[in-house]
Amino acid sequence: MDTQGIFDRVAPYYDKMNDILSLGLHHRWKRTLVESLPWGQYKDQVPVVLDCACGTGDLGQLILSKAQSLEQRICVMGLDPSPCMLAQARMKLQDAGQVCWIEACAEHIPLPEEAVDIYLIGFGLRNVENRKQALQEALRVVKPGGTFFCLEFTPEVHPGVNWAYQPYRRYGLPFLGRLFAKDPESYEYLAQSIAAFPSPVLLSMELSQAGWSDIDYKTLDLGIAAIHTGTKQHENTGSTET
Ligand SMILES: C[S@@+](CC[C@H](N)C(=O)[O-])C[C@H]1O[C@@H](n2cnc3c(N)ncnc32)[C@H](O)[C@@H]1O
Repeated sequence: MDTQGIFDRVAPYYDKMNDILSLGLHHRWKRTLVESLPWGQYKDQVPVVLDCACGTGDLGQLILSKAQSLEQRICVMGLDPSPCMLAQARMKLQDAGQVCWIEACAEHIPLPEEAVDIYLIGFGLRNVENRKQALQEALRVVKPGGTFFCLEFTPEVHPGVNWAYQPYRRYGLPFLGRLFAKDPESYEYLAQSIAAFPSPVLLSMELSQAGWSDIDYKTLDLGIAAIHTGTKQHENTGSTET
C-alpha cells in the first residue's frame, strides 16, 4: 500500500474530511491529548515537542495556543513524510512562527538521541510501515524522564455501539470518501487500517516491548479512539523523575 501517495492525494481536503467523518469529534480528542501533556513539569523550561506524523499541523497549532494561554514557551517540531501534508501544515501555521518542519518517517527520525522532551503521534502510528521500529525510534529521541503520547483509533468500540460503528467504518467511510472527496480508495484504506491496528491492551504491550515505562491508556467516546502514554526511564536508576 502506497500510504505516502494516499496522504499526498488527500492533503488538500484532509481537514474537511476529518470534520465530516468524525462529526467534528477529532477536535475534541486532539484537545484532550494536548490538555494531557505535562505542562506543569515545564513551567521554567522550554520543552521540545515532536509532533510525529503531524499531517496538516492540528496538534502543533493546539499546543502553541495552549502554551500561549499558559504564557509558557515551547518549541514544536512537526515531522511527516508527505510533502503535501507538510505544505498544508506550513500554510495553517504560517503566523505561528515557532514551528520547525521535518520531512521524514517515524521509523528514521533525523534528530540526535535525547533531543525532545515530549513525543506525540496523533492518528499516525496506524500508518507507519514498521511500528516496532517507530516506537523504538521514539524512545531514542526522547530525553530520559520524557513522555510519549499516542492518539489513535481503536479496532474495538463499546459492544453497545459496535452494531452501528462496524458498518459505518466498513461501508460509510468509503461512501463518504466517494461523495465528498471523490476518493473512495483512500477512505477504504482508513477503514482497513483501523481494523488492522492493535487493541489498546496489545498496543500497551508493544510499547513495553519497545522499552517504554509507566504505560497507560484511556479510551475516548465509547472506545472509538484511545490515548496511550508512556515515559522513558532514566538509565540505571529505574526512575522517571527529572
Ligand atoms: C491520519 S494523518 C494524521 C495527521 C495529524 N497528526 C492529525 O492528527 O490530524 C496520518 C499522517 O501520517 C503520516 N505518515 C504516514 N506514514 C508515516 C510514517 N512512516 N512516519 C510518519 N508519518 C507517517 C501521513 O503522511 C499523514 O500525514
